[in-house]
Parts: sequence; C-alpha cells; structure tokens
Amino acid sequence: MKTKRKSSTALITGATSGIGKSFAYKLAEKGYHLILVGRRELELNSVANDLKETYKVHVDVMVGDLSLAKFRKSIAQKIKSNSSVDFLVNNAGFGIDHDFFQIKVKDLRSMVMTHDMATIELTHAVLPGMLKRKKGRIINVSSLGAFIPGFTRSLYLATKSFIHYFTKALSIELKPHGIKVQSLCPGMTLTDFHDRDKTNAIKENSKFLNYMMPDKVAKISLHSLENGKTICIPGFINKIIVLIAKILPCKLLGFLSSFRRERPTIKYPHTLYALVA
Ligand SMILES: NC(=O)c1ccc[n+]([C@@H]2O[C@H](COP(=O)([O-])OP(=O)(O)OC[C@H]3O[C@@H](n4cnc5c(N)ncnc54)[C@H](OP(=O)(O)O)[C@@H]3O)[C@@H](O)[C@H]2O)c1
Repeated sequence: MKTKRKSSTALITGATSGIGKSFAYKLAEKGYHLILVGRRELELNSVANDLKETYKVHVDVMVGDLSLAKFRKSIAQKIKSNSSVDFLVNNAGFGIDHDFFQIKVKDLRSMVMTHDMATIELTHAVLPGMLKRKKGRIINVSSLGAFIPGFTRSLYLATKSFIHYFTKALSIELKPHGIKVQSLCPGMTLTDFHDRDKTNAIKENSKFLNYMMPDKVAKISLHSLENGKTICIPGFINKIIVLIAKILPCKLLGFLSSFRRERPTIKYPHTLYALVA
C-alpha cells in the first residue's frame, strides 16, 4: 500500500492492545491520521502519544464502552463530522470462557453489542463518505472460530460468524463503489485476549500451540486487503484448520469440542487443540 495523503483518517476500535494496536502502528506508518477507540484510558493515551511522536500523525482518542448505544452514537457522529475517515477497522472484542447458561444476560448483551452492533453502526456511519469519495477500506475482525463450533463459546462464535457473513455480503455490494471490505479471521494470536477470557488451558498448552503475533496478523490482513481478498485467514496452519473444519462432519467437531472440556490440561497436538479451542 502506498503512503496516504495526509487527509486520510483510519478509525480503529479496540486499539488499546493486541491486533487493534498493531493496526494502529501499521496505518500510522502509512501516513494515516487515527481515531482510536477503547476503554482503558491510560493505555490508549499512551499508544496515541507514542504514535504521534513516532509518525507525526494526528491521533484522536475516544474512551468508552462500545456495548453502550450512547457511546456508539458519539463515534458515529464523529465519523460523520470528519470527512476524511476512509479506513475503518472494527476490531474490539472479548471472549467469555463459560457455559452459555452460566453467563449473565448483561454480559451476553454486551458481547453482541460490542462485536455485532458496533460493527453494523460504525460501518453504516462511514459509508456515506466512502461512497461519495468512491474509495474506502473496511476490515471487520471475525475469527477462525466463525467456521468451527466450540464448547463454552457458543455466543462468541455466533457473533463472529455474523461478522464474517455480514462482511462477505457487504464486500459484494460495495465492490462496484471502489470500497474494499475484508473479514479477518485470525487463529490463536498472542494478545491480552486469552488472559482476559481466562482460557487457562490454552496458556498451559502454549508451547504446543501456533500462536501468531498480532503485528503479523495486521500485516497479512493489510496486504491481503490491497490484493482484493475479502476473506483473510492469516497463517498456513490456520488455513488448514478451516479446511479440516469444512470437511469434518459437524458431529465430530462437536465431539472434539466437548473433549477439550473433559480434559482441559491435556497436551493436545496443536492443530487438534486449535480446532476445539
Ligand atoms: N487473540 C486471539 O487469539 C483472537 C483470535 C481470533 C479473533 N480475535 C479477535 O481479535 C479482536 C482483537 O482482540 P485481541 O486478540 O487483540 O485482544 P485484546 O488484546 O484483548 O484486544 C481487544 C481490544 O478490544 C477492546 N475492547 C473490548 N471490549 C470493548 C468494549 N466493550 N468497548 C470498547 N473496546 C473494547 C479492548 O480495549 P479496552 O480493554 O481498552 O476496552 C482491546 O483494545 C477481537 O475481536 C477478538 O475477538 C482474537
């Protein structure tokens, strides 16, 4: 991707850490001004200050919770008042590693709002400007899990499947208008995500797993977007996992998934483990 003229702005949700933070650095390096969204104010400001100093770009910070309609509305208004937002990364997300029935309804609602409603509303807000300028780029962060049923992750995987299929359809609709859209489906990535959702078994087995670094995920995603790829599955092993998941009967996938629950600390070969994680 060529360095952008200085009037282009990228808005990234979940830029405090992990994959979103990596996108922020990569896009600042390409000359984009940034609007960064997240809840942890200190961390987000520290990322913003470093980016300003290193890349001499403008960085705005919006601190808040995407599960709240009021906050999503304020971001949509910011987008509409800033005519230069031509890159959107809907990345913010979190996992909860419990049985569905054990999770409080307010947390289930928060996941749907943060993953899906924020993606819908922010995409809707950036499109008028992008359509007018006949250019734009949108990356929606789904997951390898969009292809795989997984124990204790029923809602997480459903919200990620929603993002994946929504994005696939959107890319067809927007292609004639010069807008590139991507569903990014990362596999296991070394970020704050697994500390926060308390997937201890994953950490215990980490030496067997093929964790990818968030910088690599962001790099592959941006490269594949420029090459016009709508679906980006970073990493060879992750592509194989999706292929296996498509071939295996649903019943067998379900069995592998429940197997993980019964023996959480077993040292699985990493491909099998990643399939059911
Ligand atoms: N790591 C993996 O193995 C993996 C695999 C597949 C897909 N993904 C997806 O990748 C995306 C990024 O996750 P990550 O791995 O980079 O994890 P991470 O380091 O925990 O980053 C998640 C980001 O989302 C933000 N966020 C979460 N909930 C939010 C909310 N309600 N409102 C505003 N911001 C919120 C967090 O910021 P604050 O805490 O400051 O709010 C943080 O910046 C997620 O959508 C995740 O589902 C991750």
